[in-house]
Amino acid sequence: MTAATPETVEAVQPAPPHPDGTPDTATQDQVVTPWEVKGAEVDGKLAAIDYNKLVESFGTRLIDEALLERLEKLTGQKPHRFLRRGMFFSHRDLTVLLDRYEQGKPFYLYTGRGPSSGSMHVGHAVPFIFCKWLQDVFQVPLVIQLTDDEKFLFKQELKIADVEKFTRENARDIMAFGFDPEKTFIFSNLEYMNAAFYKNVVKISKTITTSVSKATFGFVDSDNVGKIGFVSVQAAPAFSNTFPQIFGPKGDVPCLIPCAIDQDPYFRLTRDVATKLKYPKPALLHSKFFPALQGPGTKMSASDVNSAIYLHDTPNQIKKKVNTKAFSGGRDNVEEHKKYGGNCDVDVSFQYLRFFLEDDEELGDIRKRYTSGDLLTGHLKQRCIEVVSEMVKEFQERRKAVTDETYKNFMNPDFPRKVSMKPPSAT
Ligand code: TYM
Ligand code: TRP
Repeated sequence: MTAATPETVEAVQPAPPHPDGTPDTATQDQVVTPWEVKGAEVDGKLAAIDYNKLVESFGTRLIDEALLERLEKLTGQKPHRFLRRGMFFSHRDLTVLLDRYEQGKPFYLYTGRGPSSGSMHVGHAVPFIFCKWLQDVFQVPLVIQLTDDEKFLFKQELKIADVEKFTRENARDIMAFGFDPEKTFIFSNLEYMNAAFYKNVVKISKTITTSVSKATFGFVDSDNVGKIGFVSVQAAPAFSNTFPQIFGPKGDVPCLIPCAIDQDPYFRLTRDVATKLKYPKPALLHSKFFPALQGPGTKMSASDVNSAIYLHDTPNQIKKKVNTKAFSGGRDNVEEHKKYGGNCDVDVSFQYLRFFLEDDEELGDIRKRYTSGDLLTGHLKQRCIEVVSEMVKEFQERRKAVTDETYKNFMNPDFPRKVSMKPPSAT
């Protein structure tokens, strides 16, 4: 196991104290739902998301060093940088899943995307990069749900034709992350909904009352009925007999769901339902949010152009966005910066490097030198621009290589898929 440097697993930082030392008089608590992510409001300013508080209020577990060591032992692989650095920081029942894995029992991965716009942003890359790594490490099947129905129901202005178009675009983006078509099924709800899937949807719907859905998601009586029942559609792929052609008809193969923590409410309900329907409970791995350009108080969001770097941006657009919009934890002028140093924890360029710069040593060095004031904001931004542009460029090259044939295979329910798994490493 790599030694715990400041850039390996770290305790989640609470929201920083108010800079001028006034007591923490949050006038509004933080909000984290599948539709809105906002840090606590302190004197009209948004604080960074307090992830410890989320773990407490959602009732999840922090991923600790011991769990990472176990994962490394079982897989024989150094944990991905997202794990080493606590970007994936929380879980539900990962230990149960690993116990099963140790006994050579199979599982699959499930994740998804709500196609709300034609272009995905660099924050959306996070769960998909991570799923690709998990698929390589465990060599397990992966199912990816595109919730075009959800976006149609939740966004008043969107028509069916719009979400269908976004689905086709987003599916190609997702394919560019390099999944194995013999182990990966990508499906649109509007297109794939069939007997096996729908049977699970109605079984799930029957176990969830309107009041539970309202309380979990904050719906009100004027919301359309589709929204209140949608959870059943997002829950169904967590049960393996939604895909009998891959896993058989029994529904006895458990899954692991990587997602950002905003999706947890869906899967809290899914886990309750699993018990009632006698299906295995899904395990979860939660990530923090890739912050908006404006600062760590909100997530990057595709529908807010000012917050996002898109996977289809040009190098010049990326450069301009980071230079002019990325919130800086640096001081107002060079003199003060050299004297007092910068704050990496709120600096968006530094946070982007934490997600995408592979080299632990370089990242640790950047943190040290920025904190001491030795490294200036301009130089930090420059490095961020290089690293993000490189990631985006590689993505765009792979995206160009996605052919109609590739598309057909990934989206074909009956494409021959191998249900296998790499055996655990001898320990
Ligand atoms: P959607 O499209 O809002 O987001 C897709 C996935 O990306 C994560 N995500 C982020 N992660 C890090 N930083 C960000 N700024 C950021 N923005 C979004 C989301 O948490 C999610 O994991 N209802 C879902 C679609 C869905 C799904 C699933 C997601 C269906 N089944 C299973 C995860 C797992 C949605 O609209 O996601
Ligand atoms: N300091 C914490 C961290 O680095 C909180 C935080 C600040 C943060 N800015 C962030 C978390 C941006 C995620 C993204 O994790």
